[in-house]
Amino acid sequence: MSIIFNEKTNQFHLHTASTSYICEVFNGILAHAYWGKRVKQILPLEQLYKIKNINLAPHDLENSDWYSTDVLLHEFATWGSADLRTPAFHAVYADGSTVTRFRYKGHRILKGKPSLCGLPSTYVNSDDTCETLEIELFDDCKSVSAFLLYSVFEEKDIITRSVRIANGGKESMTLKTVESFCADFPNDNYDMISLYGAWARECHIQRAPLFNGIQAVDSKHGASGPNHNPFVALCSKDATETSGEVFGLALMYSGNFYAGAAVDRYSRTRLLLGLNSFNFEWNLGAGEEFQAPEVIMSYSSEGIGKMSRQFHKIIAKNVCRGKWRDIERPTLINNWEATYFDFNEEKLLNIADAAAELGIDMLVLDDGWFGKRNTDNCSLGDWYENREKLPGGLKGLGEKLNQKGLKFGLWFEPEMVSPDSDLYRAHPDWCLHTANRPRTESRQQLVLDFSRQDVCDYIVKSVSDVLRENPIAYVKWDMNRHMSEAGSALLKAENQREVFHRYILGLYSVLERITTAFPEVLFESCSSGGGRFDAGMFYYMPQTWTSDDSDAVERLYIQEGTSLVYPFRTMGAHISAVPNHQIGRVTPLKLRGDVAMLGQFGFELDLSKMSVEDKELSKKLIAFYKEYGEIIHSGEVYKLASVFEGKSSAFQIISEDKNTVIVFLYNIQGKVGLPSKILKLQNLEANAEYVEITDEKDGTVYGGDALMNVGILQDITHDHASEIRVFKRK
Ligand code: DGJ
Repeated sequence: MSIIFNEKTNQFHLHTASTSYICEVFNGILAHAYWGKRVKQILPLEQLYKIKNINLAPHDLENSDWYSTDVLLHEFATWGSADLRTPAFHAVYADGSTVTRFRYKGHRILKGKPSLCGLPSTYVNSDDTCETLEIELFDDCKSVSAFLLYSVFEEKDIITRSVRIANGGKESMTLKTVESFCADFPNDNYDMISLYGAWARECHIQRAPLFNGIQAVDSKHGASGPNHNPFVALCSKDATETSGEVFGLALMYSGNFYAGAAVDRYSRTRLLLGLNSFNFEWNLGAGEEFQAPEVIMSYSSEGIGKMSRQFHKIIAKNVCRGKWRDIERPTLINNWEATYFDFNEEKLLNIADAAAELGIDMLVLDDGWFGKRNTDNCSLGDWYENREKLPGGLKGLGEKLNQKGLKFGLWFEPEMVSPDSDLYRAHPDWCLHTANRPRTESRQQLVLDFSRQDVCDYIVKSVSDVLRENPIAYVKWDMNRHMSEAGSALLKAENQREVFHRYILGLYSVLERITTAFPEVLFESCSSGGGRFDAGMFYYMPQTWTSDDSDAVERLYIQEGTSLVYPFRTMGAHISAVPNHQIGRVTPLKLRGDVAMLGQFGFELDLSKMSVEDKELSKKLIAFYKEYGEIIHSGEVYKLASVFEGKSSAFQIISEDKNTVIVFLYNIQGKVGLPSKILKLQNLEANAEYVEITDEKDGTVYGGDALMNVGILQDITHDHASEIRVFKRK
């Protein structure tokens, strides 16, 4: 049993294979007691942590050494009464009051895991692999309940958490803050790790010590990234890739979020993650419920690498869904950087011929196939083909591609509308806007109002019609601007601050309808690259275009940062032309291929213009990917060297059956007169022997103990060098 309620201590113990998470009902309050390495039992909170010499705090815990709930460790802190810190819950009631006092009311333990109404969540493949605890907290003055849901994936070392608010009162109330994760740590000696970036520079890793005050990352622009990613971790100051404590949290949500650590005057740390309360309100009528998103919690006492591997496994198997979850996906050629808008059927078929010759599986037709779109100033919303470019239509092109042995993939940007489009002319009120204000354009487009059912229905129909009528095997679902003047023509004044969240609920409902109607189609999400790279999107689409920066060196940073939380199998990664279109850098094809090899592999250049030598090398890269792609994407990832700490990087992947070990080595910048680095491999079988089968080193035998303790030479010393080495257990 992974969830135990101890009636003597009033403690809930949640145990995974190596983690314990414990909370306690203390004077009626749900207090946080412990999160860390697995323990059998702990003392009651009263004896465990103490605090002395308190003043200024409201004195509400008369018979306790704790003195005040203002210093207690909370599990779901509320605003308005004696805890004066940043809350997880803040509401305004019909009488204007803002006090909420949640007290424990009851709990139940369930087998398996319920899904969340309207929101993506982790799911179980069998009820035996997960237990769920639901705790009800109740405010008896306002008859409001908070249902905290904890699910324990024991073998995966993962706990998930979410909260549902139920208004059992007779009047409506306004939710201002509902954070999905809240826990107080008894001290502050941690670093905070988060992922920051920008367009074409997503998911860079930052780590900074906590300080007294609030340290936070967030999004306020309607999508989860790319400025920050909805992920945060606290780690012990000594934590490395392979040692130390790490408390990682990832939010399954694709819109505005907040992740913050607040260190108070007694050096306690409150960690919060959930919806961003900035500009958020939700009117909850009598009898209504509000579901907040789910947080995935990954704790490791063996360093950052283990936290990442746990995230990888849960996202790959319990977040991603559908036919494409487990099987290898097609290699592809995308025409975007090959042609941009300047294509016609003939050009595409020339590229397709070269792709077929190389052994590529699919051609993806990117932006510009619809309406009268020859540049990015028009036609979004008009999802019918441009017959001037494609005389035989999408159907004709698709059939020709299929005859060449290629599948056909297609780009859409369904959440957008161009002011110069038939859709906008017919429905100018269908975009997000605020009355009497200019509608600020970005890339000459506006955002459709997905909080409206009629807009959602229209988009489901337009996309579905194209998918039904044409031989389309893959969809790239793009989203190229974030939100301004985010109001809705249909909502009343008091509901306008619900728009950001209603938009995401609308988006999820559209994605659910389309992806379930077309289960054979592989969906890839994109927001100008990784602008919405989050676990919420992976529930509907199992991969994302990782970044619009396709330069191999930049991708080493972006892909490594992204892999802190998300598995490589979720990352679209393509070989593009040199000089690189975003940064002008010239790198060898081998490096570009070896970097793309980690993700969902493809090309993004004019293959019809490729030299004979490059075609030969490309064939080898594709053949290697087809042989090892499955292992790369289902194996466990170990980071041996970080590009953020030097000019080289290295990953090791161990196959699920532990028989194959693949090592990826990258060197950005060479230095003369320095010895080659030695990299120690990890988690091999010490007594086993491993034979190297990489070309010139073919046949060399290593002991597992030697590979782990002595290591291998990173024998690539020149600029932009890379090598992939394969070892097989004997
Ligand atoms: C942004 C995407 O990230 C690119 O790959 C490409 O699809 C363009 N949009 C097309 O407009």
